[in-house]
Amino acid sequence: MNNSKSTLQRKRVNILKILVTGGAGFIGSHTVVELLDRGDQVVIVDDLSNSHLKVVDRIEKITGKRPDFFLANICDFSAMEKVFKQYDFDFVIHFAGSKAVGESVEKPLLYYRNNLESTWVLIELMAKYNVKSIIFSSSATVYGQPDAVPIIETSPYSPTNPYGETKMINELFLKDVTAAYPDISVICLRYFNPIGAHESGIIGEDPQGIPNNLMPFITQVAIGIREELFVFGNNFDTHDGTGVRDYIHVVDLAKGHLAAVDYLKANPDASFLIINLGTGRGYSVLDLVKTFSEVTGIEIPYRITERRAGDIATCYADVSLAKDLLGWEAKFDLKRMCKDSWRWQSQNPKGYCGNCSQKE
Ligand code: UD1
Repeated sequence: MNNSKSTLQRKRVNILKILVTGGAGFIGSHTVVELLDRGDQVVIVDDLSNSHLKVVDRIEKITGKRPDFFLANICDFSAMEKVFKQYDFDFVIHFAGSKAVGESVEKPLLYYRNNLESTWVLIELMAKYNVKSIIFSSSATVYGQPDAVPIIETSPYSPTNPYGETKMINELFLKDVTAAYPDISVICLRYFNPIGAHESGIIGEDPQGIPNNLMPFITQVAIGIREELFVFGNNFDTHDGTGVRDYIHVVDLAKGHLAAVDYLKANPDASFLIINLGTGRGYSVLDLVKTFSEVTGIEIPYRITERRAGDIATCYADVSLAKDLLGWEAKFDLKRMCKDSWRWQSQNPKGYCGNCSQKE
């Protein structure tokens, strides 16, 4: 066998078969692009409740590869079992879930069911079909009001709403699972504030209705969908009185998942880990508005309003564990995040398809 042939064969042996739940969503789709770009095989399961089938076409446009796609809710055990039977997965990356804080307060039944039953189904099937590794999408929201910043992973749990509570309970559940099933390893990645978009401008964040989060609101003001930004309070104990957060480029975040997959592959006995994914830097609402205007040349009219219930002054990550353990750190700065968010919004003024059906 000549050299190039044996290299090719070795590479094929290393291809991972990865189930990505919620792979049509904002963070999921960017992660799928990175996985496909490096040669892994991806199977997406998504119910499109907060995403679009068009995402799959666009992933193919960027990578030249089409991930297999199944339309199903992760809580549907028999639908999921069919997928597990069909593929011999090496990994699961579990993004699927409901994520609007306000809605979670109004609909706790929906949030507890969607966000907890889904993980339970996945673990049942992983145990049955001998899949040993899962990366779980957690959130800095589990810290609530932090005692100190930067926030380290050992800070106490203190979520302030059902959404955050479901993230916390999932983490506790997964920890118990690893204790009872030593073969299964879990990494919970606690995301700080993901913004930005793929540099192609063809995939990005596409919130339904009025955006809850800051960056999509800013880009919708910039494109003219909304008149002005409401800045929720300017009397916090921060450098300019507005809330400070750790904004992280979604592509950096996606690459953090690849680093976590590689870590579990190299350390199958890892058992249970919780790791922050952020930049370690905090910027205020007005810092973000100013930087966005600088890089796009578009003024963002804003008005200071009351604080939003539950908002905290300052939240940014201690990122040393991600660096030490995964060898990962965020590369893109705030300017790049703003540029990429704007490219996505300006190329897709109404998101993936405006008023069309999500299944189109
Ligand atoms: C929010 C969620 C958090 C979730 C995270 C995911 C709440 C209370 N928290 O976090 O659970 O994990 O999103 O990305 O919803 N802001 C404005 N005007 C706006 C929107 C936001 O001034 O129209 C301010 C907020 O007060 C905050 C900052 O911008 O200081 C960031 O807000 P947001 O993008 O909603 O993120 P978080 O509140 O950090």
